[in-house]
Amino acid sequence: MATIEKLFQPVQEKLDDTGNKVTVVGVGQVGMAAVFSMLTQGVTNNIAMVDVMADKLKGELMDLQHGSAFMRNAKIQASTDYSISAGSKICVVTAGVRQREGETRLDLVQRNTDVLKIIIPQLVKHSPDTILIIASNPVDILTYVSWKLSGLPKHRVIGSGTNLDSARFRYLLSEKLGIATTSCHGYIIGEHGDSSVPVWSGVNIAGVRLSDLNQKIGSDSDPENWKETHTMVVKSAYEVIKLKGYTSWAIGLSLSQLAQAILSNANSVHAVSTYLKGEHDINDEVFLSLPCVLGRSGVCDVIRQPLTHTERSQLHQSADLMAKVQAGIQF
Ligand code: NAI
Ligand code: LAC
Repeated sequence: MATIEKLFQPVQEKLDDTGNKVTVVGVGQVGMAAVFSMLTQGVTNNIAMVDVMADKLKGELMDLQHGSAFMRNAKIQASTDYSISAGSKICVVTAGVRQREGETRLDLVQRNTDVLKIIIPQLVKHSPDTILIIASNPVDILTYVSWKLSGLPKHRVIGSGTNLDSARFRYLLSEKLGIATTSCHGYIIGEHGDSSVPVWSGVNIAGVRLSDLNQKIGSDSDPENWKETHTMVVKSAYEVIKLKGYTSWAIGLSLSQLAQAILSNANSVHAVSTYLKGEHDINDEVFLSLPCVLGRSGVCDVIRQPLTHTERSQLHQSADLMAKVQAGIQF
C-alpha cells in the first residue's frame, strides 16, 4: 500500500473553491500589491494571475506559493493564457503603462485603451458573469472603455476611482486632527486625480461636521486653509512617483477592500468610478466616482450626497473633461 494510502482514509471528494475566485491582470507593482493584500487579508484564497511576461508570472507565482504556509489554503494560478481566469467572480485589471515623472494620468489614455482592447474581451469570454474592477490609468476613462468593450451592465464595471483619493484625504485629516484615520470620515468624488472634488460639507468626526464648525472650510477665504489638505491629495501620487517611481501599496489595499466588499456582499459604501449619466444632472456617458454601495452584484446603489454649488460645478467640469477625452479615443 502506498504511503499516501496509509496516510488517510478518503471520505468525500474535496470541493473546488467557487464563488470567490479573483483574477488579476497585470503582475506589476499595482497588481502584485493587490494580490498580496487580498491573500494576506483573507479576501480570497483563489487567485489567478495573467500577464504577457511569462517569466515574471512564473516568478511571482512561485514566490507566493512558497508563502503558502502563511496563508489560508490559497489556490494560486498564473498563465499568459486567459483560460486560467475562467469562473472569476471578480477580474481586477492593473495592466498597462504607468505615468513617468512629468506625465499625467490622461497622457496614458490611448496606450492603455489599446491594452484593454486585448484584455477585456478575453476576461468576459471566460467569465461572462464577472465583475470588472479597473485600476489602470486614466482609471475613469478606462472604466468607460472597459464598459464599452465588455458589453457588461454598468453595475458590473467598476473603477477603483477616488477610493484611493478618499483614503489619502482621510489620512491627511487624521494627521491634522490627531485622530485615527478610521475615525475621520470624508469623501473625494469625481475624477481620480487632478480634478477630484472634496465634499467638505460631508467631512465629519463622530457626526460632527467640520463645515458646521468652520463655514468657510475648503474655500479660498478659509482662514485655516483646509483646502491645502485636498491639494496635498492631488499632489501625493506625483510626489510618490518622483520618489519611488510608482505608487502601489495604497492602491493595492484599496483594490483589496473593494474586492472584499463585493465577495462578502458587505453592502458597504466606497467612492468608486461608476456610470454617472443621470446623477447630479450629468448628461454625458462618463464614469466618475461617487459613494456607491458595493455587494455581490457590484454597484447596488449610488449615494446621492447633497452637494454645494461649488462641488456640483467642479463635478460637472470633471464630467465635461472625461467626455472630451473619450471623444478622442480610437476604439
Ligand atoms: P507596471 O509596469 O509595474 O505593471 C504593468 C503590468 O501590465 C506589467 O507586468 C505588464 O507586463 C502588464 N501588461 C502590459 N500589457 C499587458 C497586456 N496586454 N496584457 C496583460 N498584461 C499586460 O505598472 P504599475 O505600476 O503596476 O501600474 C499599472 C497601472 O495601474 C498603470 O496604468 C498605473 O497608472 C495604474 N495605477 C492606478 C492607480 C489608481 O489609483 N487607479 C494607482 C496606481 C497605479
Ligand atoms: C495614484 C496614481 C498613480 O497613485 O493613479 O493615484
